[in-house]
Amino acid sequence: MIVLGIETSCDETSAAVVKNGRQVLSNIIASQVDLHAPFGGVVPEIAARRHIECIGFIVDEALKKANLSLSQMEAYAVANGPGLAGALLVGLNYAKGLSFVNKKPLIGVNHIQGHVCANFLSEKEHEEGELKPPFLSLVVSGGHTLLLAVDDYNTYRVVGATRDDAAGEAFDKVARVLGLPYPGGPEIDKIAKTASPSIDFPRARVDGFDFSFSGLKTAVVQYFQKNPDNIPDIAASFQKAVVDVLIERAVAACVSEGYNKIALAGGVACNSALRRAMQDACKEKELQLFMPAPVFCTDNAAMIACRGYYRLLTENADDLDLNAFPGRMV
Ligand code: KG4
Ligand code: ZN
Repeated sequence: MIVLGIETSCDETSAAVVKNGRQVLSNIIASQVDLHAPFGGVVPEIAARRHIECIGFIVDEALKKANLSLSQMEAYAVANGPGLAGALLVGLNYAKGLSFVNKKPLIGVNHIQGHVCANFLSEKEHEEGELKPPFLSLVVSGGHTLLLAVDDYNTYRVVGATRDDAAGEAFDKVARVLGLPYPGGPEIDKIAKTASPSIDFPRARVDGFDFSFSGLKTAVVQYFQKNPDNIPDIAASFQKAVVDVLIERAVAACVSEGYNKIALAGGVACNSALRRAMQDACKEKELQLFMPAPVFCTDNAAMIACRGYYRLLTENADDLDLNAFPGRMV
């Protein structure tokens, strides 16, 4: 089955053609990061307007790259939440138009479940074998930090979540305070490579498998106000505090669920320190680790097409009155 995926939930306009859920034939991503950088974060109205300008070209480009025509698409999968309402509606309405005109199924996809599905895509980096459920997924993005038990292709159970900031949000906010450009996650990753994580920032102890990053963020800001000279060490120490907590909770949740596989997902899964430390931790605990290639960690439509494919295998397609759900979790 050939699925066209569409993703417009935040500040990336993306379209992708994916065969049988896993083989990426094309994955075109237009980032709006330059438009939002002067504001230090995504401006929802600007994001929605730019999606409208780009979506048609991006879909055409995805078809061209895959060397296929619109009539060869067998379903349209679109991220319809969570995300920015206006941004989501652009992709959703575009997909509805395609579905109506071409008389092919429309399938709404949860963006977070889409991130998990990045691990199924064929260009992924992983240690061995193709990933199949059940497994534990750590989803760390700009908007969400979740531990999901993926019991089968269509069952996602929340076993842990952040009580306040998402991991990516903490990276971006700390970077902003340190005077680094937006988005801050990749900048902190970069400067931390040259520094030592010598400052002992707090690791929040929250019940169960939940996370909290707002106390850490405040501790970093207060330290920086008193010690403004050593930005690389502050960045490296902050990053280590986040990575330590993410790994400790993910490994514990995986063992508690009785699974032996962990799959990373979301933009923060690009972080080089997290990837390296997760590899070490999984080796020590004899867990198998899966990590998407960085291009599939950040927002993209290939992961949406993959999630749509697995929904369509066992569930009915959606109707044309499908709505966007900006606040929906999983
Ligand atoms: O998954 P994503 O593209 O969008 C959301 O669904 O939120 O994630 C974007 C987030 C941003 O907060 C960005 O700073 C973070 O992922 N990020 C990173 C890295 N690359 C992207 N955080 C830490 N290290 C990185 N290398
Ligand atoms: Zn995302």
